[in-house]
Amino acid sequence: MPEASTLPALHEATRRSLLGEPKELPAVWLYDERGSQLYEEITRLPDYYPPRREAEILGARAGEIASRTRARTLVELGSGDARRTRFLLDALTELGTLERFAPVDVSEEILRESAWSIAADYPALAVEPVAGDFGRGLDALPAEGPQLIAFLGSTIGNLYPSQRADLLGRLAARLGRDDALLLGVDLVKDPARLERAYHDATGVTEAFVRNALTAVDRELDATFEQRRFAYDPRWDAEKEWMDIGLRALTAHTVSVARLELDLAFAAGERLRVEISAKFRRERFEPELHRSGLRVDEWWTDRAGDFALVLARPE
Ligand SMILES: C[S@@+](CC[C@H](N)C(=O)[O-])C[C@H]1O[C@@H](n2cnc3c(N)ncnc32)[C@H](O)[C@@H]1O
Repeated sequence: MPEASTLPALHEATRRSLLGEPKELPAVWLYDERGSQLYEEITRLPDYYPPRREAEILGARAGEIASRTRARTLVELGSGDARRTRFLLDALTELGTLERFAPVDVSEEILRESAWSIAADYPALAVEPVAGDFGRGLDALPAEGPQLIAFLGSTIGNLYPSQRADLLGRLAARLGRDDALLLGVDLVKDPARLERAYHDATGVTEAFVRNALTAVDRELDATFEQRRFAYDPRWDAEKEWMDIGLRALTAHTVSVARLELDLAFAAGERLRVEISAKFRRERFEPELHRSGLRVDEWWTDRAGDFALVLARPE
């Protein structure tokens, strides 16, 4: 579950989101221990292409990223199981510059496990995990440069444009001349492929999304009932994001005791659990620029599905 010091802020954010239009749960509720395990399963699904595409680019470019950044410190935001981060750890270790790795994740269990396993596999490295919200805890991160801040798996697409701008702006302000940011971003493509990626036949993605209701029932004493909701991921062509959530099958009321809320759902009303924005270079590059960052390199996989962006402060 989220680390204890972030709970008051999470409860407040949950209250605001549930009272919003559409009703929404902050995506952090997806990542309790079971949610993180389900996410790992998703990354192995044939239709969920992003991890494999990102691995393809990292496999081809990690050496170049290492020699261009010569990072002493690697920070990773939303590190999860940090499986693909090993491409960077290997390349930077081989180059001989890397001294410390600081993975940051709100899900304590997966953070602890991945930090332990990386410390065991890279004994010369100082592994300094930071449990918490990457949106708030940037000041607590190690800053010895040159540093590389990695934000992989298109997790940046789970933020709304204003949150994205805020985080990118704060990252840009933290980066010195020799530092860099490495962003994995999923690209706009055929909506049918996108919808398949979030609606797999085995039901793992649905179980992952539904697990947010289970977590909120348990942690906030809520009465969300799975049978009253259908899984309903949709491509929003205007916003260019996958709108991932559930739809109430009948009109009913859900109470969230710890937030002192009673929520009336109409039949067919949606509860959003996450967005996953998809990117285009011609829009993302100016967005980075507005946040004080410039693109140093923009690499894609052979199919052009996914991009890895190396950015520097302007
Ligand atoms: C989409 S997964 C990506 C995991 C991994 N980077 C990968 O590419 O496979 C998002 C990760 O970010 C973490 N996360 C989500 N929101 C977060 C937040 N606000 N602060 C810190 N970590 C967060 C989740 O716990 C999860 O491990």
